[in-house]
Amino acid sequence: MRVKLRKSFFKSLRFRIMIILFIIGIIPCLIVKNVIVSSYENRAVSLRYYNVRNQCDILGNQLMKENYLENQDSEVINGEMAILTSVYNGRILIINRNGKIVKDTYDIDEGKYALSKEVIECFDGIPANNYDRKNSYIEQTIALTDKETGQADGVMLVSTSTGEIADSVDMLETRGNLLMAAVCILVIVLGYVISGILVKPFSKVSKAIEELTDGYLNEEISISDYTETELICNVFNKMLGRMKTLDDSRQEFVSNVSHELKTPMTSIKVLADSLNGQENVPVELYKEFMEDIVVEIDRENKIITDLLALVKMDKKASNLNIEKVSINDLLESILKRLKPIADKKGVELVLESYRPVVAEIDEVKLSLALSNLVENGIKYNVEDGWVHVTLNADHKYFYVTVADSGIGIPEESIDRIFERFYRVDKSHSREIGGTGLGLAITRNAIVMHRGAIKVRSEEHKGTTFSVRIPLNYIA
Ligand SMILES: Nc1ncnc2c1ncn2[C@@H]1O[C@H](COP(=O)(O)OP(=O)(O)OP(=O)(O)O)[C@@H](O)[C@H]1O
Ligand SMILES: [Mg+2]
Repeated sequence: MRVKLRKSFFKSLRFRIMIILFIIGIIPCLIVKNVIVSSYENRAVSLRYYNVRNQCDILGNQLMKENYLENQDSEVINGEMAILTSVYNGRILIINRNGKIVKDTYDIDEGKYALSKEVIECFDGIPANNYDRKNSYIEQTIALTDKETGQADGVMLVSTSTGEIADSVDMLETRGNLLMAAVCILVIVLGYVISGILVKPFSKVSKAIEELTDGYLNEEISISDYTETELICNVFNKMLGRMKTLDDSRQEFVSNVSHELKTPMTSIKVLADSLNGQENVPVELYKEFMEDIVVEIDRENKIITDLLALVKMDKKASNLNIEKVSINDLLESILKRLKPIADKKGVELVLESYRPVVAEIDEVKLSLALSNLVENGIKYNVEDGWVHVTLNADHKYFYVTVADSGIGIPEESIDRIFERFYRVDKSHSREIGGTGLGLAITRNAIVMHRGAIKVRSEEHKGTTFSVRIPLNYIA
């Protein structure tokens, strides 16, 4: 549970907002700190270059005046050099034209030769300013120029320690890091609080949904803090509406089923009771009542068969048994089967095929669907009426229309005829012998084939059902 919780926190919007705030807070801090430290260091080093060079230039002039390259006994100059080196914690080497060190304030390398790249370049008029950050010192070369010839007769090589600059940089870095740590903590705390405030409306939404699903609330939810939460609420309310409709229709279906199943039972019971209640019932009456009972049993049987057919098609997993079938043959056999009923009612049955059509369908289910339409056309027809069935196709679909010259469907009922158990005129339909499940079965079967069904009707004139089904089954 805890592992799951932790995982869900890392995946949460709140955590992501915190990360973003953290990045926004820390990166500028880091940049500012580094810029401050490095610009301080650059400034301090260049100031040091400048100061040392200035003082050494003056010293150099004095040195040349007193011919120090030849004779290093000048107390004044030696004293000045000692002061300079002690101020900057450094070392001065005086090198003559031959590269020989004539004076070393450390008294180590006098008499040796120092012909480094920097010294040679300085003789050529290019003085050096080198900063060694790692070892904390600056090395500079100053040319000792003869006033008359303008030539460099010697070079002053000065190294000064930058220890105190490094110390200041270190101190700045430490302070910067401390500040960063403080900012980090502040950003985390602030981020936690701000992200909490930002995601609160979403928590409100989930709480409202939870309360609704737990059944405390019964109305729609509305959290209009953000456009997003409003959108979520709208979508949820829509879904809720659909669920309510579904629930209502389920309840209605269950009550319809029980009612429909009870009706024949009640009739059977009434018939049987009346027989039982009489004495010396004539055989003819027995026979008549028994025939009525058989009719009611047949009716009950039909309702159950239809319901089972519907339930089977309702299951999404229900497999269609797809085969390549000639639709012309299928329609012919449907009409042939229904011809006796049509003849009995004096209704003319006509099939008009515009072309041979072969399609991938479930023969049993589609046959049931189409024969329900033709059967309705016959059932809800008038004496000497007609039912025209046409078949046509294009490259994608085939089209079947079933048109009749019957009683038609009132406009207010058109939208409901596909509902289970819906019948326009209950008493009339009952007389004709319907259960009101036929069109529901038809529509289900067509939808399973990814097809569509439409109806047009005019009262007392007739009705036309148009069906469109893909030639190739779409899984
Ligand atoms: N061709 C039609 N002309 C006029 N009314 C029709 C036609 N087809 C259907 N209806 C009306 O729609 C209702 C529903 O039809 P449906 O086929 O679902 O049920 P049914 O015919 O009453 O019973 P079942 O088909 O289950 O035996 C019918 O009761 C009838 O009122
Ligand atoms: Mg029917």
